[in-house]
Amino acid sequence: MKIESLVIHGGIDGDEKTGAVNVPVYQTSTYKQPSFGHNTGYEYSRTGNPTREALEKLISDLEEGYAGFAFASGMAAITAVISLFKTGDKVIISNNVYGGTFRVLDKVFNNFNIGYKIVDTTDLEAVRNNVDESVKAIYIETPTNPLMDITDIEGISKIAKEKGIFTIVDNTFMTPYLQKPITLGADIVIHSATKYLGGHSDVVSGLVVVNTEELAKRLHFIQNSTGGVLGPFDSFLLIRGIKTLAVRMDRHNENSKIISEYLKSREEIEKVYYPGFEDHPGYEIQTKQAKGYGGVISFVLSDKIDYKKFLSNLELITFGESLGGVESLICHPASMTHAAIPYDIRQEVGIVDNLIRLSVGIENSQDLLEDLTSALKKSL
Ligand SMILES: Cc1ncc(COP(=O)(O)O)c(C=O)c1O
Repeated sequence: MKIESLVIHGGIDGDEKTGAVNVPVYQTSTYKQPSFGHNTGYEYSRTGNPTREALEKLISDLEEGYAGFAFASGMAAITAVISLFKTGDKVIISNNVYGGTFRVLDKVFNNFNIGYKIVDTTDLEAVRNNVDESVKAIYIETPTNPLMDITDIEGISKIAKEKGIFTIVDNTFMTPYLQKPITLGADIVIHSATKYLGGHSDVVSGLVVVNTEELAKRLHFIQNSTGGVLGPFDSFLLIRGIKTLAVRMDRHNENSKIISEYLKSREEIEKVYYPGFEDHPGYEIQTKQAKGYGGVISFVLSDKIDYKKFLSNLELITFGESLGGVESLICHPASMTHAAIPYDIRQEVGIVDNLIRLSVGIENSQDLLEDLTSALKKSL
């Protein structure tokens, strides 16, 4: 089945018992055991729930992995994955990972002596040189949030395999419709499903897909032990959202191409970060490893524009956290999504104060262009 059909019919399709075309919401915490020593395959919903399982099977099918796991947020998913490691282990992370990922490593896992090393993962030699005995995984986002750096997933996976360590890819920005890290050699894929997979800004959730039975067993143990599972109704909402992933991503791709070209042409804008530009340093790798360039664009406003006024003057584009919804969302990474990253590191990697991140929605592109033009004019 092709992915456009798989998003609709993958995982567990409908309900065998009644013929309902949608998987029911099994809103239950527990299950009746038919007799002593026997159960239906379900005992307690932290351990297993049929609606959650349908979602877990669906994401596993879409990512072409061995098994999927659903969590109460992207951060709960990341926390479960990092819990695979133990005291003394280290993880290499890309140099502009999502602020929350940095925070959980820096402020939570550091306390348990699970460390991290920040490396420019676009530079494969730098990655190779930084893998020492303590490094147990390379954790990448590609494109990165918010600077849209592109890392070669196949290149990283080769290094990790040579060294006997894991490759973990946060695939939130691309989704399996555009990029499938496991097919490129990765071991674990993570999603903030809050974003494109859910797609409607109405559910906070995280998903993980692993490529082996052994990792599946370990992750299920962690999921059940630590308990950050996704509830049945939110699982249903995600299944519903994923059904339209293909058409939504096509439109996100189309609109962001138009908006990125517009932004590049404006003199009020100093720089545009978009991996679909042929002069983007990661263009070739992105074109090779993904089916499109996604819906996120970051840009630096010139000094002439007051960024606070610009953000307040937008009318159609919503000023707020998050991305990947049907509606266009805009944010200020330095004070919002990436505020957890210390000022000096932010300056060093390019998360400057007049950097803006735009998640291009699926509205009419002309309406979006008009909103941007009017806000730029009002913010001089
Ligand atoms: C790339 C990326 N990964 C992980 C997360 C965390 O996900 P959540 O907000 O669902 O916990 C985010 C949130 O913005 C993100 O952008």
